[in-house]
Parts: sequence; structure tokens; C-alpha cells
Amino acid sequence: MANKKRKKSILDLYKMKKEGRKVVWITSYDFPTAQFAEAAGVDMILVGDSLGMCVYGYPGTIPVTMDQCIVHCEAVRRAAPNTFVMGDMPFGSYQLSEREAVANAVRFLKEADCDAIKLEGGKRVIPQIRAILDAGIVVCGHIGLTPQSSGQLGGHKAQGRTVESAETLIEDAVALHQAGIQLLLLEAVPPEVGKFIAELLPIPVYGIGAGMHTDGQLIIVSDLIGQFQAFTPKFVKKYANVAEVVTGAISSYAEEVRSGAFPAEEHCYRMIEGEYPKFEKMAAKFKK
Ligand code: KIV
Repeated sequence: MANKKRKKSILDLYKMKKEGRKVVWITSYDFPTAQFAEAAGVDMILVGDSLGMCVYGYPGTIPVTMDQCIVHCEAVRRAAPNTFVMGDMPFGSYQLSEREAVANAVRFLKEADCDAIKLEGGKRVIPQIRAILDAGIVVCGHIGLTPQSSGQLGGHKAQGRTVESAETLIEDAVALHQAGIQLLLLEAVPPEVGKFIAELLPIPVYGIGAGMHTDGQLIIVSDLIGQFQAFTPKFVKKYANVAEVVTGAISSYAEEVRSGAFPAEEHCYRMIEGEYPKFEKMAAKFKK
């Protein structure tokens, strides 16, 4: 029998925390990138609502719909069958009622075979979190900088930089844990706050811009590969410059089309042997 790789589960993530092994987490929105991510051996993929900016060119995440998220989750799951895939609940998909929150969370599992969902917010989203957990779905909390409510935060600003703000974050983290979340993501908070929460809670606590002490790191793939152009948050490290590579490749193609260098002989199909004399005879009819 073929040696089929086992799919990562929530138990693997807990084991990694216990053993002090860092989880490698990236976002991904499409089939090819998710294939590369699985081949590179990442532990988790978030199909983030950042797809609004990274794929659709919206100025933020607010316009993103459930249908868009589902389509991208489906593509990612097809490409990464063995990776822990998380769907991100977009703005408006869980705020209106617990019932609607559950219905939308269920879609991520039923339609796109996701392993978990993530939603933004602290204490104020606990009723929705409880309802989703009651449906048997793995929930990841997300506190700190929460882009969907960046209007209330006064912009995309780091959180937990004062004692009062750090205390609010810790209270939110504890409340979410008590509500039953199995995973927590901290975004844009000082490393001391990231470390404190990761050590305080028995669940895996991951960070994006939360320093080096959390149980794992998340990064937006479009930032990591140098594809996203609009802005670069402080916590991003670019590991490649895809924008330069792709623009360069397209410019070379344009140059060669204009100069006639492309296509060359090797890019052309040839007629089957013996067909050319007949072709010329047939073509002559059209020239009369
Ligand atoms: O949508 C996303 O990619 C996210 C990260 C910014 C945490 O939620």
C-alpha cells in the first residue's frame, strides 16, 4: 500500500506546544501557492480575509464575503490535503447573531473541508464562539490588532503597548480560553505580552507581529514572497521579491514579442509528415 501522509490535526498542534516545537503558519488563497506551502512543510494554512487586499485589491478586509472565502478555502484544501487549513470568518459573517455565526462557520467545514475557523474579537464575541464550539467546530480566537475593527482602534495600530491595553488583552485571552477556544492568534503586540499570554494559557498561542516567544508564527504569504505592494507592516520579513521576478519576466516577454524573438522554432507545432505538399495545393485555392 502507498505510504499516504497523515493529515495534521489539532492534536498535533497541542503536541507541538507541549514539546516546545514552533508551528509554521502562513496564509494562502490559491491552489498553486498552497501546493508550494504544503511541499515546503508548513504546519498550518490560514485562508485569511486578507485575500480582500492580497487577491482582490480592496483597500481592506471589510468588503470580503463568505462566498469569496469559501471558494478560496476549497482551492487551498485541494492543494494541501495534509495541512491544517483554517477558514477566516469575514466581517459581517458572525456579528449579527449566534445562529448566523454557526451557519457560516459550518459552511467552512461542509463546503471547503476546513479544519478550523478563526474570528476576530475578545469578550464581545464570546456568545458566537460558544455557539460555534457547541456545533463541534475548532475555533481560533484573534486579538490584538483586529483589522475588521481597525476603525474603532483608530487604524492598523499595534495593541498592548500600555499596561492598561496589555491588561485588556490578557483579560480577553483568558476569557476566550475559558469560553473554550482551542487556539489563539495575537496580532501586533509587544513580545513581552505575546510571551506572557503564550505561557499563561495551556492552548497553542500563535503570533503575527507578537514577537519570538509565541508557540508559532503566522505571516501573510503575499508579504513573505514580496508580492503585496500597497504597504509593509513592521512585523513582515520578505524572503523573496516575486513582484520583481514576475514584472521582469513579463517585460522580457513583451520585448521578445515586439522584436519577433518569441515565439521561436522550438515553440511551433509542425504538420504531420507528408501533409505540406497537400497543404500548399489546398491553400492555393484561397489565393485565386
Ligand atoms: O486575514 C488574515 O490574513 C488575518 C491575519 C492578518 C492574521 O487575519
